[in-house]
Amino acid sequence: MLTIFQEKQILLGVTGSIACYKVVDLASKLTQAGARVDVIMTDSARRFVTPLAFQSVTGRPVYTDMWDERLHVQHVGLGEAADLFLIAPATANTLAKLAHGTADNLLTLTALTAQCPLLIAPAMDGGMYSHPATQANVAALQARGATFLGPVAGRMASGQSGMGRMMEPAELLGRVRIAVGRKGLFHGRHIVVTAGPTREAVDPVRFLTNRSSGKQGIALAQAALDMGARVTLILGPVSEPPPIGAEVIHVQSSQEMHDATVAAVTSADVLLMAAAVADFRPAQFASQKIKKTEAESWGMAIGLERTLDILEAVKHQRQETGFPHIVLGFAAETQNAFDYGRDKLRRKGLDFIAINDVTASGAGFEVETNRVTLLNREGELVRLPLLSKAAVAENILRHVAQAMSNDNEQ
Ligand code: CTP
Repeated sequence: MLTIFQEKQILLGVTGSIACYKVVDLASKLTQAGARVDVIMTDSARRFVTPLAFQSVTGRPVYTDMWDERLHVQHVGLGEAADLFLIAPATANTLAKLAHGTADNLLTLTALTAQCPLLIAPAMDGGMYSHPATQANVAALQARGATFLGPVAGRMASGQSGMGRMMEPAELLGRVRIAVGRKGLFHGRHIVVTAGPTREAVDPVRFLTNRSSGKQGIALAQAALDMGARVTLILGPVSEPPPIGAEVIHVQSSQEMHDATVAAVTSADVLLMAAAVADFRPAQFASQKIKKTEAESWGMAIGLERTLDILEAVKHQRQETGFPHIVLGFAAETQNAFDYGRDKLRRKGLDFIAINDVTASGAGFEVETNRVTLLNREGELVRLPLLSKAAVAENILRHVAQAMSNDNEQ
């Protein structure tokens, strides 16, 4: 369950395209995330999948008939109750009806009563989408405030390739999250998050790195998006996909992460420094692969030098510019976690430090959970229990939002 979807009602309009089968999965994901999903299907949609398929994943009745005598003005009830109306897949025919206010089925009728944001994910053949009639309908709907999600380029049912495929359900889910969270605690704020390890090259084929999976940083970026922030994610090499809707800057070395972070925070409200930045790198980079015999002649040792401390650089920049307003660091420790954490908070000029003992069970690298103690610059401590990394991220961001509102009041 995601807090963002708690008590949210999503109206899902489904029209006649083969992409309908993918939207069953989307309805399932939204329901599992905690949303109440009401599905309206057109007659054409029912030729591709049955209402039972949607009912089975949402646990709710599916609406299909505008003449259903058992339900009193259902189009008004559905439209007014919804927090968000997503039409996916949306055919060319439905776009035309919506653009002209035609109300000849339950879906288009309900669209005239809904006051909530309207998201439309078109699916049709590329030629139909680029047709001037469809383009005029898209423009008319955009002018009235509808948000279009796709279509995207790729292979279509006709076997041809072009711009007309429905956006994939995972991407649609990400876009729905952004739309639902847009008025959240960080509405209008810019949050920069760093995540993952860095790689310090020894030669073109070898590098030094660490065990960070990037999961906690990526969870922070997702939680910030869910709370309405614009998010820049500076991401080291990880296998975890970044959240939909974040501006992602991929980096490899600590030097690249330093440069990207210092540039990104020049006007940012918050920096969440979750990356596990290398403290040392090879003092020399061999431009060609090091051969065994060569290494032996060096005594098999790699000389190291210190990398730049990114938080130190941010501290100096902040003293001059005032940005970012809030800086949070992490302290991943294997012993004396609290003392080392408190020392880092002071040394690096932080507002918060999230301390975790990476040797504790269920905490630290490569796992889905974390146990974090949050310490602020006033010395206040919050010990969070063992939580999913998503829940840890949400808790951290609530404390950051509180600190921002306290600063604004002063
Ligand atoms: N950090 C940084 N630049 C570095 C190393 C770390 O900005 N070159 C940041 C990390 O992203 C983290 C915080 O500093 O938010 C603490 O990182 P950590 O590795 O725990 O501390 P170090 O300062 O590297 O100290 P030590 O290795 O001695 O524990």
